[in-house]
Amino acid sequence: MGSNAQNPQDEALSSANEERLQYLAEATRVRHIYKSGVPLFTKEKMRDLGKQMAAIKTTGKPGIIYTADLQGNTMECSINEGDGPQPYMIYRGIFQLLDKNPEISGSRLLPILVLDGEYPPERFSKHLSVEKLVAQLYDAKAQWESGPECPELRALISKTEFPHVRKIVGFGCGSLSEDSKFSNRPPMFQHTFMLTLRDILQQKQGVTVQAFAQDPAYNVRHKDALSAVGIKAVDDPDGWLEVDDETIVFTVFPTVPVRQIIADIARPAAMIWRRVERLQRYSSSFLDEASPRVKAMVRDHYTEVDFTKVVNVKLPGSPDTFFDDITTLYVRKEYQRRWKPRDRGLRPKSAQDKPSDGGSRPLFLTDITDL
Ligand SMILES: C[S@@+](CC[C@H](N)C(=O)[O-])C[C@H]1O[C@@H](n2cnc3c(N)ncnc32)[C@H](O)[C@@H]1O
Repeated sequence: MGSNAQNPQDEALSSANEERLQYLAEATRVRHIYKSGVPLFTKEKMRDLGKQMAAIKTTGKPGIIYTADLQGNTMECSINEGDGPQPYMIYRGIFQLLDKNPEISGSRLLPILVLDGEYPPERFSKHLSVEKLVAQLYDAKAQWESGPECPELRALISKTEFPHVRKIVGFGCGSLSEDSKFSNRPPMFQHTFMLTLRDILQQKQGVTVQAFAQDPAYNVRHKDALSAVGIKAVDDPDGWLEVDDETIVFTVFPTVPVRQIIADIARPAAMIWRRVERLQRYSSSFLDEASPRVKAMVRDHYTEVDFTKVVNVKLPGSPDTFFDDITTLYVRKEYQRRWKPRDRGLRPKSAQDKPSDGGSRPLFLTDITDL
């Protein structure tokens, strides 16, 4: 007589098999949706989640945040922390959604998750006073402006033909806390770089240029100090919402897929960020990997300007540079000025829809061979 009971080894094997099959099914669905041109990130979704998060923070009570996955199904994120709930958003680019062993669990069809807790994890860090931070920021500005790379930046910006620029938005420029997990020296310089860039552009264009910075690692003092030197620190998702076709996006080593988000929501006037060609392959530890969409965006809509002389800036008294050394400048080809997501057929579709072809091809279809 046979028995239905499996030995533990067989059980483990069949459950591993099930997991594998489930992964394959989900990954196939995500790939199909992505290849059909559906944006992972939209301003509408971010704005809506931002409003729901703000409402929960205002009431100070647990609540539920509603969102829709890539197939349009309603999903719920429970915000349970009774003692002052602090919901925050996690953005997952295409490579995180396709990761077999994701660091953050949750449906692969949800590129934006709202989690509960407190960000930044630096809440116990030693806080510098606003005055001290402002002094450090001015000091960093004076140091970098008196170095040899600042004139290079001036010369480069003066001779480069730019679309009109009204804003600079920096993402993940870093915490200004001295005992931050990362040193606060690169963040000090990165923020002041934005100010110099703003001044040069204002002079060149003769109009006001605003500087914004978004990083959930800022505490209230950081925000006050940044505001005192002329940078408006905004909460997530307001930075994304500021980005339009008259914006320069700036980011160095962000732990959020800035390039993938921007590729979905805007065609900025320019970007100062990591060159896309360098990393061709996915590494799960690098969250801002250039996706096929990022590569297509840069290839089709932007011209790269040689930024080498600017990014070689050394931190005074240190061999480190304050940029990623493959940071570069991309300037939009002017004819793309009025890009709108909707004009390119980037409407959410159901996963069952076949990718369209011919004249109504979604923007990114041609370049998605390497997923
Ligand atoms: C590795 S640090 C880099 C800091 C700085 N750019 C540097 O080069 O030292 C990554 C930064 O990305 C920030 N970050 C994470 N999520 C973010 C988000 N949603 N929006 C903006 N910045 C974010 C983190 O808080 C952190 O300050």
